[in-house]
Formats: sequence, C-alpha cells, structure tokens
Amino acid sequence: MSTSTMKKNHSQWSSRIGFMLAAAGSAVGLGNIWKFPYMAGEMGGSAFVLTYLIFMFVIGLPILVMEWLIGRRGQKNPIHTMEDVAVSEGRSRSWCWVGIIGVLGSFLILSFYSVIGGWATDYIFLAGKGVFLNANGEVTGKIFTDFLGNVNHLLTWHTVFMGATAFIVAMGVGAGLERACKVMMPGLGILLLVLVGYAAYVSGPYFGEAFRFLFTPNWSAINGTAVLAALGHAFFSLSLGMGIMMAYGSYLGKDVNLLSTARTVVILDVLVAMLSGLAIFPLVFANGLQPGSGPGLIFVTLPIAFGNMAGGTILGVLFFIFLTFAALTSSISLLEPTVELLEEKTPMGRKTATIVSSVIIWAIGIACLLAFNEWSDIKLFDKNIFDLLDYLTSKIMLPVTGLGTIIFGGWMMRQTLIRQELNLSKSWFAIWTFLTRFVIPIAVILILIYGFMPE
Ligand code: PHE
Repeated sequence: MSTSTMKKNHSQWSSRIGFMLAAAGSAVGLGNIWKFPYMAGEMGGSAFVLTYLIFMFVIGLPILVMEWLIGRRGQKNPIHTMEDVAVSEGRSRSWCWVGIIGVLGSFLILSFYSVIGGWATDYIFLAGKGVFLNANGEVTGKIFTDFLGNVNHLLTWHTVFMGATAFIVAMGVGAGLERACKVMMPGLGILLLVLVGYAAYVSGPYFGEAFRFLFTPNWSAINGTAVLAALGHAFFSLSLGMGIMMAYGSYLGKDVNLLSTARTVVILDVLVAMLSGLAIFPLVFANGLQPGSGPGLIFVTLPIAFGNMAGGTILGVLFFIFLTFAALTSSISLLEPTVELLEEKTPMGRKTATIVSSVIIWAIGIACLLAFNEWSDIKLFDKNIFDLLDYLTSKIMLPVTGLGTIIFGGWMMRQTLIRQELNLSKSWFAIWTFLTRFVIPIAVILILIYGFMPE
C-alpha cells in the first residue's frame, strides 16, 4: 500500500491529542481490566505486580518510544518501516522480520482477544436483565460456568465482536469512534473509581487485605514464570512488539514530544490496571473466591458488586459497555497491521482484505472458544489452545520482537539521530543510551532464559 493510502486511513489522528488518544485506546483494553487482575491472582499478587510496574517504566516506556521513533522515521507499515530504516542506516533488510513477527503476533492475539471481547459484550445484556441481582460469589460463578459451557452463545458473541471490529476497520477509523472514545474512556475511569470506592466500602478489612496482596513486596513468591509473565504483560498491555505503535508513530508530526507522550500513556495504562485490581480483589477476598481462578475472574467478581449496590444494574450495563469499547479500540488496532499487509502485498482492496483476515482470525478464535468447553482436554505442553496462543504471543513473540526493536534502535541506528529525535540533554541521553544498549536488551534476554528454565 502506498504511504498516501495509509495516511488517509489515519488522517484523523494527526493532532497530538488525537494521537495520544489512539495510542492510549490501543493500550488500555482487556489487558488492563481482564487480564492483569487474573494474572496477578495466579502469580500470587504483589511480586508479579511490582515486577510488572518496574518493567512498564524501565523496559516498556523506552520500547514504546523506540517504536514511535522508528515509525516516525519510516513513515510506512511496520514491515516496510523496519526495512527502509534499516537500509537507510546501512543495515540488512532482514530487520523487516521484526515487523513480520509483530504482524503475526497481532493476528494471533486478536483471535483470542475477540472471544473475550465477546464475553464483555454479552455481559452488557446479562447485567441489563438483572441476572446478578443480590448474587453472591457462588451465583455469579455458576452463571459464568454455564455461560462458558454454551458454545453457541459464545460463538454468537465472538462473531458479533469480530464483526464490529471488522466493520470499523473496513470503514477506516472514523471520527465516530474517536469521539466515542473521548466519552467512553473517561467514563470507564470514573466507573472504575466508583467500583473501587464500593469495594472499599462494603468489604471493610478485605480492602486492606487486597491492598497488601497487590502491593506489599513479597519477593519470595517471585520465580522465572512470574517474571516472564510480568514482562510479557508489560508488552501486551502497552501494545508493544506488534508493530502497532510503530504504525501509529508513522503518522506523527515532528513536533510531538515522544518521551512525554509515552509517559502519559504508560501512566494511564498502569492506573487503569491498578484500579481494576483494587476494584476486584476486595470482592475476591470478601466473598471467599479464589484469586488464582483464571480468565473468568472479573466476570465472577464484578457482577457481585453490581448485583448488590444501589443502581447496580445500570452501572453494570455501563461498565460492560465501556469495557467492550475499550476492547474495541484495542481490537481495531490489532486488525489494522494484517489488513495493511494484505492490502499491500495482494491485489485485494481494503474491504476484501478486512473480510479475509477477519474470517481467518474468527476461525482461529473458534478454536480458542472451544478450549473453554468441548476442547478443554486438547492440550499441548499441558496447555489448552487458549493458553497456548496466549503463551506463544505474550511470552515469546512480543518479548522477542521488543528485543529486536530495542537492539535495532540501540545498536543499529545512528545515535546522533536518536538524540535529535528525542531532544535530550547530554546527560539524559547518556542514561537513555545505557538503558537501550545494555540494560534493556540484557534484561529481556535474561528474563527469557530465566522464564524458560524448568522450575
Ligand atoms: N494493549 C491491549 C490491552 O491491554 C491489547 C493489545 C495488545 C492491543 C496488543 C494491541 C496490541 O488490552
């Protein structure tokens, strides 16, 4: 695809604030509200949470900046951006593999992301029907288990969610979505605050327990699996290692300050995750639920709050609408790279490219969906299809692509050029170089090795 077509698709994100919204829209999603709490629960809480926080700022933020920076220089889709920038720096074309693995990652992630997006969409209606009224943990748990067992139901909502994603992408991301985001994102933030307030109010001492669970350092619980999971989640949560942020960077003006914009996006992303944790874990402890119960965690805990608080039905409906929207603003960013690639590499137009890629992603999604019921026994390396895809993408592909990006920026690009782009003083730039050349690559390599060592 020519640069001009790409520009057209994203032209609405040309202002700094529009760009920030798009980047934050991609970053803030199911990863923060659905995935973060259940991972924290499975990995024993604070050790995972604190490691994740450190990784977000020390590793995630610089890689985010690097993706934008490379994208802004390349001005193309991730694969050709990597290729062009590499060639212009006198390096091998093979650097395009960073882009290729990234696009493949976004393709695979969307297949399971859409299934969970479907859950969120269906929960709008469940909440609206009042099925959670006066429910306790046992009741919401049973509703969720029955829900997971109903293949047709899950399939319907997975299809609806994937269809909505495809529809928006095929149309080009219009002003409608951006405007809706401006309302939805703050709305989601306010509702999360209300939920944290509610959780603190009704669960009394359990709020303290939840706080300690999430934030009191307990380094004895840390192991290779948790560290790798925290790194993978930092990437997932910031939409890194998939060329997405690189593509967004390609529509950026020179005047945008990459470091300060990245800081805002990372802080927002972290805040949403922390608020979700503080809304959910008091309810987990107060209701005797298991923190490590896996992907169903928010769908079992939050409905307890909605079922028992004043105005809970309407708040529940609103919450799941916002959640679905947060998921949609991420899922469209996940579909975009594949569509761009097909558009560019095949004779397909944008609409056909969107339909073809969506149908394939949707079909892989069905396999993930069946992993929660009829195919739950199909396992490879002791993981079902959903876990396997999540593992392959978050714990292998994203860190490897992120590593490639940072090595490229740290070692392959002219550092004078990077300093100019970042507009840093000499001493700050020395810190930046030390981070990107040594600390981050070595840390990521060690974490990958540590994470794959047998316990
Ligand atoms: N960052 C999104 C989230 O936290 C998910 C996502 C991953 C989106 C990768 C785009 C790319 O939900």
